[in-house]
Amino acid sequence: MSRVAVIGAGPCGISQLHAFSSAEKKGAEIPEIVCYEKQSDWGGLWNYTWRTGTDQYGEPVHGSMYRYLWSNGPKECLEFADYSFEEHFGRAIPSFPPRAVLTDYIKGRAEASGIRKYCKFNHTAHWVTYDDTSEKFSVTARNLEEDSLVTEQFDYVVVATGHFSVPNVPQFEGFDTFNGRVLHAHDFRDAREFEGLDILVIGTSYSAEDIASQCHKYGAKSLTISHRTAPTGFHWPESFEEVPLLTRVEGKTAHFKNGASKEVDAIILCTGYLHHFPFMDLPLRLRTTNRMWTPNLYQGVVWNDNPKVMYLGMQDQYYTFNMFDVQAWYVRDVIMERIELPSIAEMEKDNATWAEREATLADYEQAIYFQADYIEVLLNQVDYPKFDVQGMADTFMDWEHHKHDSIIGYRDNGHRSLVTNNMQPVHHTLWLEAMDDSMESYLS
Ligand SMILES: Cc1cc2nc3c(=O)[nH]c(=O)nc-3n(C[C@H](O)[C@H](O)[C@H](O)COP(=O)(O)OP(=O)(O)OC[C@H]3O[C@@H](n4cnc5c(N)ncnc54)[C@H](O)[C@@H]3O)c2cc1C
Ligand SMILES: NC(=O)c1ccc[n+]([C@@H]2O[C@H](COP(=O)([O-])OP(=O)(O)OC[C@H]3O[C@@H](n4cnc5c(N)ncnc54)[C@H](OP(=O)(O)O)[C@@H]3O)[C@@H](O)[C@H]2O)c1
Repeated sequence: MSRVAVIGAGPCGISQLHAFSSAEKKGAEIPEIVCYEKQSDWGGLWNYTWRTGTDQYGEPVHGSMYRYLWSNGPKECLEFADYSFEEHFGRAIPSFPPRAVLTDYIKGRAEASGIRKYCKFNHTAHWVTYDDTSEKFSVTARNLEEDSLVTEQFDYVVVATGHFSVPNVPQFEGFDTFNGRVLHAHDFRDAREFEGLDILVIGTSYSAEDIASQCHKYGAKSLTISHRTAPTGFHWPESFEEVPLLTRVEGKTAHFKNGASKEVDAIILCTGYLHHFPFMDLPLRLRTTNRMWTPNLYQGVVWNDNPKVMYLGMQDQYYTFNMFDVQAWYVRDVIMERIELPSIAEMEKDNATWAEREATLADYEQAIYFQADYIEVLLNQVDYPKFDVQGMADTFMDWEHHKHDSIIGYRDNGHRSLVTNNMQPVHHTLWLEAMDDSMESYLS
């Protein structure tokens, strides 16, 4: 029987374990699986931690999520096709759940799937190599509680360690003498820390818009959003201002490319994350920026240079949990030899076709439909329940329009589930006024 190492038990790793488990429940013989997870539980980024920097074992803290984080996309676009929100919560619930509610949903399906037995928690994968002669991988992991190293041999390695954890941290002149706090979004934990302060946010993507909105909600005095490429273009409240890129900082004064300046108390770098896999030997290591089509991954998951290595969820993400499921089903079927891979040359050609289309994407709408088409290509090759991928893309369009109508109020809308076809209710309290993000409050 072949042996499979899954590295990481976040949403992607859970999808992989669940995919194997669902084949087993249909009577198939599945490989032997070991999942290494460095945290003490599964759930990945969705496990909130107050920690920043390194953890109690000296390992880098994985968590990038913060208190009061609510889903920034409609849950109807990430719903599992084989486990609806209504099945989990017993009824329809509003479309933009806080972190704790989404965590409960992900973990609920995982527990029901009976896959905990595959996980070695508190184990960090430190080094993965491939031996051409034995055609096996060696995976060396650190048992964190015992501070010991364990090495095991495998036939396949599935990398599911995420790519929104290692911060991309640019340097700006004057940071070393700035008389305030400079931090990256990865270390942002509680917006209340910034109450009454003038905040500068660098970046214009999801972290920037959400952290700026959070700080506004919890009482920041002003928000200045600095862009490298283009302003967000959203209709921000009066205390917001969009400015060109920061050029330098002097004392507490931030200077911008257009010559303007502003006194600020703290600078939050919402400058994205690095795809970082230091535990993979160089020939196995994915190197990419955060983009819609990742280079060298056939069907977005199979490592061209050694097709026994798979990477899950490495694309920039509009779709998340259900895309991870479809990818995991595809990976499972390659490993179980239900899907035969073409030659390396054909895999490269297929990749080139996707990359060419990626290069033509002009806006977020085209990017969303691109990802929808990609998911459908995989979905048509596996027995994951068919779901309305294009319908979800249409929901994303509505969501983007709501954001442009009101960036602070877009979460006050309800969307229709494409899994149950039921309209989901609007939350009992406007997002801006809902200070309690507990599951009890949300479901009450
Ligand atoms: C601030 C923030 C908010 C987000 N909000 C949303 C949202 O609202 N909706 C949405 O759909 N998506 C959101 N996302 C996107 C997020 O990427 C996905 O929801 C999802 O968490 C990705 O799953 P993953 O398993 O690929 O990665 P992760 O969730 O990052 O999980 C990776 C797992 O691998 C483990 N790991 C890492 N390195 C090792 C190692 N060397 N050895 C062993 N284990 C290791 C980690 O501990 C972790 O458990 C958000 C991301 C961020 C950063
Ligand atoms: N509530 C939520 O659910 C929530 C909250 C936060 C984040 N998230 C998720 O987290 C993920 C990551 O989002 P992200 O916004 O952190 O990363 P991202 O989407 O990769 O965006 C990175 C941003 O950093 C900017 N940037 C990078 N280097 C820079 C530099 N040297 N100088 C100035 N700007 C620079 C980029 O600007 P350019 O445009 O110029 O390249 C871009 O605006 C997404 O999946 C998102 O959905 C979700």
